[in-house]
Amino acid sequence: MLAVIGGSGLGQFAGLEAVRRMAMPTPYGEPSAELTLGAIRGRRTLFLARHGDRHTIPPHEVNYRANLWALREAGADCVVAVAAVGGVRAELGPGTLLVPHQIIDYTWGRRSTYFEGGGAPVTHVDFTHPYSEPLRRRLLEAGRAASEQLLDGGVYAATQGPRLETAAEIDRLERDGADVVGMTGMPEAVLARELELAYAAIAVVVNHAAGRGESKGGVSIDRLEAVLQAAVARACRVIEELAGQP
Ligand code: HPA
Repeated sequence: MLAVIGGSGLGQFAGLEAVRRMAMPTPYGEPSAELTLGAIRGRRTLFLARHGDRHTIPPHEVNYRANLWALREAGADCVVAVAAVGGVRAELGPGTLLVPHQIIDYTWGRRSTYFEGGGAPVTHVDFTHPYSEPLRRRLLEAGRAASEQLLDGGVYAATQGPRLETAAEIDRLERDGADVVGMTGMPEAVLARELELAYAAIAVVVNHAAGRGESKGGVSIDRLEAVLQAAVARACRVIEELAGQP
């Protein structure tokens, strides 16, 4: 079953019908919210609001382990994440939708593995390709079918937040090869991998990153929020198309 993790601007999935809410405690604590089980185009789909129902959980305090565990417990085998990002490369302006293919992790202090404690054997997962390529392909195909332009590939830099970056930090991310920057891509992606869930993301560019383009003098949060709703709605149309695929 498909699961959708909604980020900022996506606290509820409007296209989800016949919904039922499910509390789903896990050995790792409570997920960000109750899971919503419903149907998109007749296909059973789960939804979880990453930042909670009232958008109160900041990126560094999200219980990513509980979130992924709960979705798997509820029957998910693939997860599409929607994540607002800043565009690091100048041409990736507000409104761009991108399906990243790589990640650089700059976060710290987050619980980022299930393989610790309890005397369990040391386990290393392969993470060369952090996103599921088949799921990425399906998303890109759904984008074409929904007539929404989705850029194929990009390097997602995961920063700690909740503050935005300095201009020099964005320069550094660009030198490192990052295309977009967000605060939630990790450890979400690696935990999905540890649980053997197929995972891919739609990165929704809502602002030029600090020091770039219209954010040269600073990132305007008002402008960012104005872009967010419409851009996330387009990402949702792609997911509805994906859910309807055979
Ligand atoms: N930086 C980090 N995370 C973000 C940004 C940004 O500029 N925009 C939206 N999420």
